Amino acid sequence: HRERVRAVLNSSPLIPVITVNDPDDAVPLCLALVEGGINVLEITLRTEHGVKAIEKVRKAIPEAWVGAGTVTSIAQYRQVEAAGAQFVITPGVTEAILEFGITSETPLLPGIATISELMIGYNLGYREFKFFPAEVAGGIPALKAFGGPFPDVTFCPTGGIRRNTAADYLALGNVQAVGGTWLTPADAVAAKDWSQITEIARGSLADL
Ligand code: 3PG
Repeated sequence: HRERVRAVLNSSPLIPVITVNDPDDAVPLCLALVEGGINVLEITLRTEHGVKAIEKVRKAIPEAWVGAGTVTSIAQYRQVEAAGAQFVITPGVTEAILEFGITSETPLLPGIATISELMIGYNLGYREFKFFPAEVAGGIPALKAFGGPFPDVTFCPTGGIRRNTAADYLALGNVQAVGGTWLTPADAVAAKDWSQITEIARGSLADL
């Protein structure tokens, strides 16, 4: 389980948090990101199109890592597994989801905002966490502080991170990747301006 989570986090320093409003957008949007150099894609369940989008993108872009985000229940976890998701990200933790994630073939990156939540996951064997919502939950100083008692834990912070702050997070020894929606601005997606998405991805990687 851990090796598979690590493989995802090691594959891209930037993880786009994708919301699919128009089901026809999923594949071209993800292709634009891959074209820009990003090969880990978090497709959220924030709209009803999320599960189908995961299935379509998995088939269309086999070279990318395609995962599910905003998974909040075991029922959703099972749905995205069936759709072919290669990883699952939750915004927070419940013991039920943490326990399910250990036994699932599809590895879980659980979201935490506090040390107490981290400890629940840690005691079940998790060493990789999403830190969410990163900016309001303490940002870089919090991650530095977490490294004191838990030097063996690695984070993927998301929430409030932007192109001009991503590098500062990635400079921390306990941050392997950062996530965010800045890579898929709603106006560019609504305009189906895929070349702009590719440029943002490429530019954001170049800025690191
Ligand atoms: C997430 O779920 O990771 C966040 O919604 C991303 O936050 P952002 O919109 O501030 O990048």
